[in-house]
Amino acid sequence: MHMDFKQQIQQGIPLELPPIKKYPADANRAPRRKNILTSEEKQLAIRNALRYFPQEWHKVLATEFANELNIFGRIYMYRFKPDYKIYARPLEEYPAKSKQAAAIMLMIHNNLDNAVAQHPEELITYGGNGAVFQNWAQYLLTMQYLSLMTNEQTLHMYSGHPMGLFPSSINAPRVVVTNGMMIPNYSKPNDWEKYNALGVTQYGQMTAGSFMYIGPQGIVHGTTITVMNAFRKILPSGETPAGKIFLTAGLGGMSGAQPKAGNIAGCITICAEVNPKAARKRFDQGWVDLLIEDIDSLVARVNKAKEKNEVVSIAFIGNVVEIWERFEKENIFIHVGSDQTSLHIPWTGGYYPAGLSYEASNRLMSEEPEKFKEKVQDSLRRHATAINNHTAKGTYFFDYGNAFLLEASRAGANIMDENKIDFRYPSYIQDILGPMCFDYGFGPFRWVCTSGNPEDLDKTDQIAMDVLQNMVENAPKEIKLQMQDNIIWIRDAKKNKLVVGSQARILYADAEGRSKIASAFNEAIAAGEIGPVVIGRDHHDVSGTDSPYRETSNIYDGSKYTADMAIHNVIGDSFRGATWVSIHNGGGVGWGEVMNGGFGMLLDGSPEADVRLKSMLFYDVNNGIARRSWARNEEALFAIKREMERTPSLKVTIPNLVDDTILKNLF
Ligand SMILES: NC(=O)c1ccc[n+]([C@@H]2O[C@H](COP(=O)([O-])OP(=O)(O)OC[C@H]3O[C@@H](n4cnc5c(N)ncnc54)[C@H](O)[C@@H]3O)[C@@H](O)[C@H]2O)c1
Repeated sequence: MHMDFKQQIQQGIPLELPPIKKYPADANRAPRRKNILTSEEKQLAIRNALRYFPQEWHKVLATEFANELNIFGRIYMYRFKPDYKIYARPLEEYPAKSKQAAAIMLMIHNNLDNAVAQHPEELITYGGNGAVFQNWAQYLLTMQYLSLMTNEQTLHMYSGHPMGLFPSSINAPRVVVTNGMMIPNYSKPNDWEKYNALGVTQYGQMTAGSFMYIGPQGIVHGTTITVMNAFRKILPSGETPAGKIFLTAGLGGMSGAQPKAGNIAGCITICAEVNPKAARKRFDQGWVDLLIEDIDSLVARVNKAKEKNEVVSIAFIGNVVEIWERFEKENIFIHVGSDQTSLHIPWTGGYYPAGLSYEASNRLMSEEPEKFKEKVQDSLRRHATAINNHTAKGTYFFDYGNAFLLEASRAGANIMDENKIDFRYPSYIQDILGPMCFDYGFGPFRWVCTSGNPEDLDKTDQIAMDVLQNMVENAPKEIKLQMQDNIIWIRDAKKNKLVVGSQARILYADAEGRSKIASAFNEAIAAGEIGPVVIGRDHHDVSGTDSPYRETSNIYDGSKYTADMAIHNVIGDSFRGATWVSIHNGGGVGWGEVMNGGFGMLLDGSPEADVRLKSMLFYDVNNGIARRSWARNEEALFAIKREMERTPSLKVTIPNLVDDTILKNLF
């Protein structure tokens, strides 16, 4: 029987066993995962997988799933991937009783769109392992639940598994997501391997498992702010980054933003990428200007770009260590250096060691994981030495939140400061994003126009720019530069062709800015000027994430190893009006290394939506500013005091500062 898109969504798990599916030959396949389960555990994994299906299919599916487990290290249930095209359709095309639920379906589809997702067949959106679901059965069931739910139910999701619809209220979130929540003692990388293979947990990364990924645009803005300010740190005032080099690695899900950000910041960007498919994808999408395959041509082209003071981005298909070492020999000065390989998963394809081909590495990591680990650590030591040689000549190097310094230090690389506690190099949060943005509440606010109409996006860009322009006139000097950068960003956003997948936009803004922009959108929706809009943010933000080597690396009161802020955030957002909330273990820097959360909210033009957005966005940003100010961060103290003046019902505990001389001779 032929079924249309809506009927297929509504049916959930099909009534008849669908035919077995051939894996598309050109797909960018997820790395083969570790074969970590014992025979007994494998049986448990199959038993777990089969509970989604009627008994009469078990025999045939058991063999098939056992095969998937043996070949891929995971059970994706590929046979159940639906035949319809998965992409963010206009909101009204989704079969739903609740508009909020339809908006969530749209966002799930965006995360699994072939043009957006890194390994769509395996339900991985980005970061090598950032999963929306563990398998296609979970996808089918979730979409079915969303199509059935009313505004008085909440869907609770455990690491991709839809536990079910529970009665709630119109003011409750429609979906509550947790990903990778573990008992702390079971939160080591191999625990993820094991419990993910068993089918009971998943790595949601940040916006993958929370349905809020909007393609690399999401990260371009933050990366632009970072690169621009890195150059501001080292160049004499008035000098531009044109003709100056930014060297980095990775053209994957997030790292693919680097060349685009480099172009916007106006420098020469050189970005190494070992996976030719990933490099070509970014080149074809226009995210990087040139593709170069051999190192001699790279040297020649870079010298030319320097001579002509060019603004250009170059993808080098090869290992980044090769460039660091070769540029040293050639005496090519690197002004700014960083790295965005996926070192949060160093042993499973996140970092490819120098001296081994891409294919050889892929073989070694699954066949001889211990040997592969040694190669990775050798390479990290080499990598760090080459960087040290450049920084000795004046290169400014910073860690880009990918656990480079952490893993290099674990590999015994010469990367520690003389005090043997700190790293030799700062993280981009410590030096740039923390003090300039997060402590003032600036973070990656984003929105998606659910009509799918590019004109709606143009209108929202204009609305957001008008709001910021009105605000900047009376803004205090401490945040004027940030606001001006953000105005330039939104002014040029369309020109920079950032949209991949849904009609989405990112814009760094503070609490006041986010709230005013969202409120202005809601008014425009009420006036019929634009369709409904989903607002949200990256987890990489002021309040949503506790991550001692990244988002909260500029917290110096010892509390950076706690995760209270992220937990308060998700709970606080959930009863202030979020349409969905999520909290994840892992994401960015690695499993067990971070707690991060986020939200999504549908603006439908109603007065209730205006109440919700104001209440929730206020808390969503000021929670983190309060914590950062309690940690004595000067910028956050400024911001929270300013907020208390504006909002009399906000009362935050302010720290008393201690004179150094009192502490000096105590111990
Ligand atoms: N700073 C930030 O704002 C920020 C934001 C998002 C992600 N991150 C971190 O950056 C990392 C990358 O994220 P992603 O989503 O792009 O991951 P990804 O896995 O999609 O991309 C990383 C890419 O690096 C390539 N690579 C690995 N080793 C290499 C090597 N030695 N030389 C050249 N290329 C190599 C891989 O082939 C891969 O394509 C992650 O650890 C992530 O947590 C940082």
